[in-house]
Amino acid sequence: MAQNHDSVVAIYPGSFDPITSGHLDLIERGSRLFGRLIVAILQNEAKSALFTVSERMEMLNEAIAPYPNVEVDHFAGLLADYAVKKGARGILRGIRAISDYEYELQMALMNHRLQPRIETIFLPAGEQYSFVSSRLVKEVFTLGGDISGLVPAGVERRMRAKLATRL
Ligand code: PNS
Repeated sequence: MAQNHDSVVAIYPGSFDPITSGHLDLIERGSRLFGRLIVAILQNEAKSALFTVSERMEMLNEAIAPYPNVEVDHFAGLLADYAVKKGARGILRGIRAISDYEYELQMALMNHRLQPRIETIFLPAGEQYSFVSSRLVKEVFTLGGDISGLVPAGVERRMRAKLATRL
């Protein structure tokens, strides 16, 4: 049955450790495509993270404040199951380069096999952010490099505070 895009729920999943300006650009564009966009943080105990899930939720909640149809949540287990639980029709993912595409395609096909009614929508990363990743931002920052503009201002502040407690 055809659906007005205003009623379409989509999930934007990720680790968001931390959220970057590239993520935020995708959130802004996704908020114009879907009626409701849920930014969902993967709770992954195995992955050693810089920020806790609740810290990441706080930073994301600050960053999404201008977008009334965007909300933040966290999930564990299969993304496809979580998407069904939320009544989502779409999974939003950004592609920065061809190297991203291979992994993203595998995930999209696997999620489609698990839940054929849910479609993955790829958006090209904003060109000014096509080299930005949470991993590189953390590495550059830890080694004293300038990351201004690559993460929201609140995130940079928290990274400075986090680093100070680790020294
Ligand atoms: O920010 P990331 O690390 O690229 O996000 C990866 C994420 C969270 C989208 C992916 O690891 C995921 O969906 N994990 C949930 C577990 C799952 O459903 N695995 C099968 C994926 S096909």
